Amino acid sequence: MTNQSHSKVYDAIVIGAGAAGLMCAAEAGKRGLNVLLLDHAKQVGKKILISGGGRCNFTNYYVEANAYLSQNPHFCKSALSRYTQWDFIALVDKHGIAYHEKTLGQLFCDDSAKDIVNMLVDECNQAGVTIQLRTAVTSVDYVDNQYQIATSDGLFQANRLVVATGGLSMPKLGATAFGFELARQFGLNLLETRAGLVPFTLQPDDKRCFEPISGVSAPSVIESESGTSFKENLLFTHRGISGPAVLQISSFWQSGEPVYINLIPSQSDENWLLDARKQQGERTLKTLLSEHLAKRIVEQWLLHQQIENKPLKQFDDKQLVELAQRLARWPIKPSGTEGYRTAEVTLGGVDTNELSSKTMEAKKQPGLYFIGEVVDVTGWLGGYNFQWAWSSGWACAQAL
Ligand code: FDA
Repeated sequence: MTNQSHSKVYDAIVIGAGAAGLMCAAEAGKRGLNVLLLDHAKQVGKKILISGGGRCNFTNYYVEANAYLSQNPHFCKSALSRYTQWDFIALVDKHGIAYHEKTLGQLFCDDSAKDIVNMLVDECNQAGVTIQLRTAVTSVDYVDNQYQIATSDGLFQANRLVVATGGLSMPKLGATAFGFELARQFGLNLLETRAGLVPFTLQPDDKRCFEPISGVSAPSVIESESGTSFKENLLFTHRGISGPAVLQISSFWQSGEPVYINLIPSQSDENWLLDARKQQGERTLKTLLSEHLAKRIVEQWLLHQQIENKPLKQFDDKQLVELAQRLARWPIKPSGTEGYRTAEVTLGGVDTNELSSKTMEAKKQPGLYFIGEVVDVTGWLGGYNFQWAWSSGWACAQAL
């Protein structure tokens, strides 16, 4: 570490050159501010680059506040309504980036997530933002209404400081608790953090039973104990269960609770197995269920439930109704999640009560702002988290 001081005082320093930081720095630069964007990584936007399987699900046609989890569900409304998905789509269009809707309003680049990173870097360059990488922040002080940021490359000073260092998920990509620690240093309340949009691990017996079908998926509806449900694919893995339905429900799951899986959502009538028996009583249960669900899932599920495979006519009414009910609401209790190692997001973080929803500025610390995932606002799977990064970054930039 060197002690040299960079004499220039910036109007604003943004720590974290991820989604929110890049957007905020570019927009603040466009407003004529002198902006320094700092990151300890070698590269900007690492999460953007790997997101959406390398194609970045950058927003969603159906962004609205109820697709976000937060202790204060109203907090995200102001930023999301002032910088909308349509504003980001217009930016993507301006840069000539081709994209498509995959499913459920989710927009992906046709080509590569690199297009989004290049677009944001272009915007920063055009706005005169200084981007400084490989720079680790060692301490932050507030002296005479200025932020003094000591780093591995000397001291930087600014009138305003924006914290855009993200959450704890994927430490391998450079995630740190920096933003939370800084919030604590300035006396801001933090809400407990936990991994979200993350696969479940299963109890040893369940895991053993379903391990042979790892890689097999099926359309499903998964419901949490609190009654939230998602209709998307379920995927069996060698550790447990994953797929979009599981990732979505994981954000609503509390340790120790079961989740309820509807394995055959196309059958809504609980008498459907009675009807099937009436029509073709000689068919076995496995044959019938395999018409609605992957055969390998049917086999392992029947084993797991200790249900004998026999002709439908050998089941009585009560058994068939109970079986239909269980297929529609199979309770399974995860042993846990895969944690931050594979989680897409971090739930909790800087308490929104501490921040202005219009500017993201800390109410009790002038000139200090928190944007993106470090804040207690977490979106569903499907482009909602990037939209929060864009919207909160933009809203903050207007106030700097
Ligand atoms: P982000 O994590 O993007 O950036 C934080 C930056 O701060 C990083 O550049 C980091 O290096 C830097 N930093 C951290 N600590 C620092 C320190 N101490 N000093 C200096 N710099 C520091 N969302 C979505 O909407 N669509 C999608 O397709 C996906 N896909 C996806 C895939 C995977 C594998 C993951 C892990 C996540 C997603 N997400 C997603 C979620 C999305 O990536 C996430 O919500 C945003 O990147 C959050 O943006 P931020 O700018 O807040 O943090």
